[in-house]
Amino acid sequence: MAQNSITITDNRTQQNYTLPIEDGTIRAMDLRQIKTSPEDFGIMSYDPAFMNTASCRSTITFIDGDRGILRYRGYPIEVLAEHCSFLEVAYLLLFHDLPAKLELKLWVDQITHHTMLHETTKKFMEGFRYNAHPMAMLVSTVAALATVYPEARDIHDPANRLLQVKRLVAKLPTMAAMAYRHSLGFPYVYPDNDLSYVENFLNMLWKMVEPKYVANPILARALDILFILHADHEQNCSANAMRCVGSSHVDPYLATAAAAAALAGPLHGGANEEVVKMLDEIGSKNNVPAYIKQIKDGHGKLMGFGHRIYKNYDPRAKVIKWAAEQVFGVTGRNPKLDIALELERIALEDDYFIKRKLYPNVDFYSGIIYQAMGFKPEMFTVLFAIPRTVGWLAQWQEMLNDPEQKIARPRQIWTGHEVREFVPLAKRNALAVPR
Ligand code: ACO
Repeated sequence: MAQNSITITDNRTQQNYTLPIEDGTIRAMDLRQIKTSPEDFGIMSYDPAFMNTASCRSTITFIDGDRGILRYRGYPIEVLAEHCSFLEVAYLLLFHDLPAKLELKLWVDQITHHTMLHETTKKFMEGFRYNAHPMAMLVSTVAALATVYPEARDIHDPANRLLQVKRLVAKLPTMAAMAYRHSLGFPYVYPDNDLSYVENFLNMLWKMVEPKYVANPILARALDILFILHADHEQNCSANAMRCVGSSHVDPYLATAAAAAALAGPLHGGANEEVVKMLDEIGSKNNVPAYIKQIKDGHGKLMGFGHRIYKNYDPRAKVIKWAAEQVFGVTGRNPKLDIALELERIALEDDYFIKRKLYPNVDFYSGIIYQAMGFKPEMFTVLFAIPRTVGWLAQWQEMLNDPEQKIARPRQIWTGHEVREFVPLAKRNALAVPR
């Protein structure tokens, strides 16, 4: 019997089954041979919320949640944040290796020259209501790019795929900035090809009447680092949405819109917006103990705390704390930082949080930095979506190139009626309380 195997005894039949173990996993399809009769469907695994199911093989992002480790293509996140630019990291995620000098120059040049939006896309954005949420505008406009680039549907041509990847990475900041300016009623600013990726984004956000926008280098670098930290995070809710929707072979604009929609929820990328709301609600450092008590009594969650994978300090939160100091050196200290630090201090000493291994996640400090930089909370998840688009596209390409992948299609356990006898409308009894 192979050593790397597991033997299961079916107590219904006393039959033994030996299943191979590969990379610490058994294949769910191997369970199907476990049957009580030839007509039996066979055993399935039941895993709501994918708590213990690997859905793919991947070489993009490695996380060891117990030890607080995050690596992109083998490089620790802290090292990349210290030494690289965001576009360098984007290249690494998309093309497996860090670029050489000339490769980086060409890549930056290509992304810079794809930042413009078609004028019809600009008009499309102008149609949104004056108070539309920037994230809803972004999701819809990313999807609308499918109408501008219909050739994107040919996802089987690698060169065509790469062109759409470049367009998406380049145009996300332009769309994000337009969504922001729209919500303020400001005229849109066109991209400036003299500027770096992040400087140009800041230019499209903040430029008013000055002839040339000059970004503060400390703020630009801090945002670049935040983009690096947010670029990918293996099989999270939005990456899973990208892979699942992309597995139907839809074009990358529609798949990216689906992933961005998944990111928008308050349990995922929307949490940074919720953290700032929570800190506003707490109001002052003195109210922190009462707030923590309320959470422990089961009233809501401490936003920006907890993670499905990290059961240790999120390594991104450490770098973000450092970036926050740099930003506050320029903008002045965000008074919410004191409330956040006190929350973290008390929570990390409290049994409730220790027992459940709840630590600050990436969203705990990012919102405070964004707010100090001048962003409204509605923009925070949009700022997350820009770099994460790179991760989604890397996951999408990996899924398409994986010969084991097919259209994603989970199974279910049927808990509904057996076949029912149809009752004509005239003979149906109304419920006592109408639905
Ligand atoms: N505050 C208080 N209690 C919490 C928190 C929190 N933030 N997070 C989890 N818990 C508790 C749960 O109530 C549960 O307690 P119980 O065992 O007594 O029932 C226990 O800790 C385990 O939590 P689960 O909900 O089972 O953990 P899960 O892995 O499903 O959820 C999640 C992870 C969604 C991130 C959760 O921790 C949460 O809602 N956090 C707040 C929202 C947030 O910050 N999201 C951002 C995540 S990072 C990202 O997506 C970019």
